[in-house]
Amino acid sequence: MYRTHTCGELRSENIGQQIILSGWVQRVRDLGAMRFIDLRDRYGITQLVTDENTPESIYEVLENIGREYVIQASGTVRERTSKNPKIPTGEIEVELSGLKILSSSEIPPFTIEEETDGGDELRMKYRYLDLRRPVIRKNLELRASIAGTVRTYLNNEGFIETETPVLIKSTPEGARDFVVPSRMNPGEFYALPQSPQIFKQLLMVAGFDKYYQIVKCFRDEDLRADRQPEFTQMDCEMSFVEQEDVLNTFEGLIKYIFKEVKNVDVENFPRISYSEAMEKYGSDKPDIRFDMTIVDLTDSVKGKGFSVFDNAEYSGAICVQGGADYSRKNIDELTNWVKRPQIGAKGMVYIKYNSDNTIKSSVDKFFNTVDLQRLINIVKADRGDMILLLSGNKNETLNALGELRLEIGKKEGLRIKNVFKPLWVVDFPLLEWDGETERFFAMHHPFTSPKTEDIELLDTDPGRVRANAYDLVINGVEIGGGSVRIFDSELQSKMFSVLGLTREKAIMQFGFLMNAFKYGAPPHAGIAFGFDRLVSLFAGLDSIRDVIAFPKNNAGRDVMMDSPSSISREQLDELNLKITTPQKH
Ligand code: AMO
Repeated sequence: MYRTHTCGELRSENIGQQIILSGWVQRVRDLGAMRFIDLRDRYGITQLVTDENTPESIYEVLENIGREYVIQASGTVRERTSKNPKIPTGEIEVELSGLKILSSSEIPPFTIEEETDGGDELRMKYRYLDLRRPVIRKNLELRASIAGTVRTYLNNEGFIETETPVLIKSTPEGARDFVVPSRMNPGEFYALPQSPQIFKQLLMVAGFDKYYQIVKCFRDEDLRADRQPEFTQMDCEMSFVEQEDVLNTFEGLIKYIFKEVKNVDVENFPRISYSEAMEKYGSDKPDIRFDMTIVDLTDSVKGKGFSVFDNAEYSGAICVQGGADYSRKNIDELTNWVKRPQIGAKGMVYIKYNSDNTIKSSVDKFFNTVDLQRLINIVKADRGDMILLLSGNKNETLNALGELRLEIGKKEGLRIKNVFKPLWVVDFPLLEWDGETERFFAMHHPFTSPKTEDIELLDTDPGRVRANAYDLVINGVEIGGGSVRIFDSELQSKMFSVLGLTREKAIMQFGFLMNAFKYGAPPHAGIAFGFDRLVSLFAGLDSIRDVIAFPKNNAGRDVMMDSPSSISREQLDELNLKITTPQKH
C-alpha cells in the first residue's frame, strides 16, 4: 500500500493515528536534530518531522532526499506546537517512523511554488512540472468541473453527445486548414476540422434533434492571448427551433454554469444589434461592465473652421467621468496611445468641463465657450468630466474610440474581474466585403441564413443583408457564436453564388451537404462556445494558455515535444511527399 491518506487530508481528528503518505518533496528544512519536510500531492501539503527519537535509518534516507523526490513516509499524526492556519493540514504534523525514496529527481529548472521564478518558455518546456503548481492545476480542475456542469445541463435537456471525425475534408470557417497527408491515397490530404459545423448539420438531417460535443477544433491562424491553433468548442445544434429558442436554451446553460461553478446569479442577458454595438461601443464584442458609450458628433462639430472635423466622415466622443483632472501628461500619453498603428487615430481632441464650471479644450481656437457647452450638453458630461473626440473614416474611428474606451476603462479600474456582464449581439451582417480579393465572404459561415426580410437584398445590395447570426459576449470577449442555418437547397445554392462559388466548385466542396438537403432537412440552428475562453474567464485569466494542459506557444509550437518537427525520409517517401525546404535535425 502506497498511502492511507492524501497530503491534504489529515486534521486534528487524526491525531494519534498511524498513517502512510506518498508525494513529492516540496522543501526540507534542517534545524539540527529536527528536520521538517513538506510533502505535496494534488490534494495539499503535510508537514513531516523528525526529532531526537527518530531512528538513525531515517536520517540516512533524509541525507539523500532533495526537492521533487517522490517519497513514501509513515508515521504518527501529532499536534503541531506552532500551527499554520494558512493550510488545511496546519494543525498537525507527522512524526516519521519510516521513509522510502520511490523516485529521485534532478533539481527542477524553476521553483514549484504558487509564485515561480520560471519564465514562460521554460515553464512551457517543462509543462509537467508547471502543472504541479497548485495555481495551474486549479485552473484545470475548474475546466473539468465546467465540462461536467455543461454535460449535466445538456444531457438533462435531451441533447445527444456525439463524436464527429477529425480526419475530414476542409470546412470553411475563415481560417486556414491544417492538413494531413494520406498514405493510402497518394497526393491527397485530409483536413482537420476548424469546427464540426457540417457534421452537426448532417446530424440534424439524420433526425438527432439536439446534438452537442465538447470537441477539439483546429485553425491555422495568427495566434493571440485568446487564440490557440487547437482549441476546444462546446458545439451544439438543435432542430425545429428559431433564433429565440437557441438564445433561451444557451442563456439557460451559461446561467446554470455561473450558478453551479461560481454561485453567481447573472441577470437576463441584454440583446443588442451588431450595428448598435458598433455605434455605441465601437466593437462587436462590447464590454458592458461600464458605460462610457460613444456619442456621434459628426454634424455637431462641423462648420467651425476646424478642417479635421469639417472634412471627417465621422466624429465621435466618449466622456470620461471625473476626467477633468487628467494632467497634460496623461492626455499626451493617451494621444500617443491612439496614434499607435494598431489603433490608427490621427490625433485626439479633449474638452475638459472643470469642476469650477470653466471649460478648456484643445480646440479653443475654433470653438468658443458656447459651442463647447453645446457639445457638453449633447454628450451629457457633468462638471469634472472630460470629453475625448476622434474623427476620420467612420469604421476606423468607431473602432479607435472603442479601443480608447477599453483603455480608459482599464486605467479607471472599471473592468472588474469578478463582475460578469454577458450579452447577446444579434443581427450580424451576412457578408463582409474583402477589398483585396474584391469579393464577399460569409461573415459567420456560408450556411448562415439571411433574415427573411432581407433576402431580396441578396440580388441588389448584398452588403446590407443581415443574418440570423448571434454572438455571446462576456466582459468584452467573444465567448460563442452561432446562427440559424439555411435548410433550403435553393437558398444555399444562391448563397454559394453570392460568395462567388461556381456551381461546380460548390458541388465539389459541399456536394454531400447539398445532397443531404434533398432528403428532408429540418429547420435547424446552433451555436459553438469557445470552451477555453469560457474557462479562462471563470478563472480570471487574460490568456487561454493556462487553462489548457499542454498549450502551444505564440509561434504555434509545442516547445516541450519540439513540434512541429521534420519526419524521416522513409515517412516522406511512404506519403509520396517531396520537401523542398531543408529539414532541421
Ligand atoms: P466560431 O468560428 O465563431 O463559430 O467559433 C466559436 C467560438 O470558438 C472560439 N474560438 C476560439 N477559441 C480559441 N482559439 C481559437 N483559435 C478560436 N477560434 C474560435 C470563440 C468563438 O466564439 N461552427 C461555428 C459555430 C456555429 O455556427 O454553430 C463556429 O465555429 O469563442
